[in-house]
Amino acid sequence: MTRYPAREPSILLTPLYGPEFTAAPERTYEHLRASYGDCAPVELAPGVRATLVLSYRAALQVLRDPVGFRRDPRPWQHTVPRDSPVSGTMSWRPNAMFSDGDEHRRLRSAITDALGQVNHGALRRDIVAVADGLIDRVAAQGRADLMTGYALPLLMMVFTRMFGCSDELAERIMLGVQRLFDGSDPAEANRVLDETMQELLDRKRGAPGDDVVSRLLAGRARLSDDELKHTVLVLMGAGSEPAANLVGGALVELLTNADLSEGLSGGTVAVDAAIDEILWRRPPMSNYGISYPVRPYPLYGNLLPAGEPVVVSFAAANADPAAAGRDAGDDRVGNRAHLAFSSGAHACPVPSMALLLAATAIERLLERLPGMTLACPVEQLPWRVSPFSRGLSALPVTFPPAPVTARQHVPVAAGPPEPWAPPAPRVRSGVLAALARWWRGE
Ligand code: HEM
Repeated sequence: MTRYPAREPSILLTPLYGPEFTAAPERTYEHLRASYGDCAPVELAPGVRATLVLSYRAALQVLRDPVGFRRDPRPWQHTVPRDSPVSGTMSWRPNAMFSDGDEHRRLRSAITDALGQVNHGALRRDIVAVADGLIDRVAAQGRADLMTGYALPLLMMVFTRMFGCSDELAERIMLGVQRLFDGSDPAEANRVLDETMQELLDRKRGAPGDDVVSRLLAGRARLSDDELKHTVLVLMGAGSEPAANLVGGALVELLTNADLSEGLSGGTVAVDAAIDEILWRRPPMSNYGISYPVRPYPLYGNLLPAGEPVVVSFAAANADPAAAGRDAGDDRVGNRAHLAFSSGAHACPVPSMALLLAATAIERLLERLPGMTLACPVEQLPWRVSPFSRGLSALPVTFPPAPVTARQHVPVAAGPPEPWAPPAPRVRSGVLAALARWWRGE
């Protein structure tokens, strides 16, 4: 097994891009584990070197050492060309993800305070209402693409409602993100996006509501306008893309795994099992938790160079035979020791909300459209693979045409009725894809 000082110029860097990695990322992780052990030298994009952490024990050590590793990329990022495919994801922004110490605690507490006040019963009703609106659009057709026609728009619509955004403003924000990624005039796109986010803040200042943006504005953390804009954007990106990937992945599992599909009549049991399976086997954020060693860092016989990115492979760490809980057979249902939500100070702040979003979206779909099957062989499903995430770009299914009966299905018994009807999904799927690309760093 090779140990490496990662800056050794002659060392072969394994790319986390290109056809070989994209075809089967798991093969790359296993090959790297066999060759290097706990961590390996990789390339995130042409010319962008990093260390990929592969073992469960090393992942926990890196994620839980805020003194040895910093999240602020500014000392490093000037070494990367601005047009590098990873600079969108890895460049600094004034939000919790890229901050350390007291600054991180302040920015993160704004998020946990604002999201902590979200009523999960009301959120569940919103998810069901939006889901019903989307299902109604395809119920009679007997076929649908569940990624562009369900999972992605559902998550974005639920989020924009949670943030108190009007449909019109939400669409402008999405369009701004899309223009950013069209790449023709990024400066202009940034200006438009900034202006639109400012308008959202101004509107909420003038007329606060019971929503996340109003709570961020009123919060104790006293975020500047710049921090507020980037916090809203990171919540939209960090929330919608991995959750949509989880919904898509778990649906495939439910439709193709005989044990689970038999248990579908058992409802939530099968759905929870499929979600656990995906969080272990194909975590939506496959490699993330990016940090930079403050000084050369010894890690299980390797020496990680100061200032060079270290990326934790949640996918590889979960597959590590020594991962926590793996010794008790391979039954992963109910075992939450996986790293899909990361660990340490930067771990996902709202795993229970993420699980609620995914489980409710899946349960509602299966309830309304029984008898669903994949419209293509599972091997032909198109996966989008980036160095950081893995998700389906399409999930074509067929089902016996079902009645359009959404209004009857919206449960009102759980609380007071909401004065809101699900809007038509006006946000173009291209815009949603652009937000997802921004988040994935493509
Ligand atoms: C299935 C869904 C989700 C998965 C798998 C997931 C996973 C993750 C992961 C792996 C991280 C990175 C942790 C790190 O850098 O070490 C993260 C961070 C984060 N997630 Fe989630 N997440 C999900 C849903 C959500 C949702 C619904 C929200 C918000 C509404 C959210 C908000 C955040 C935020 C704000 C951070 C940054 C925290 C910080 O740096 O302190 N996530 N998430």
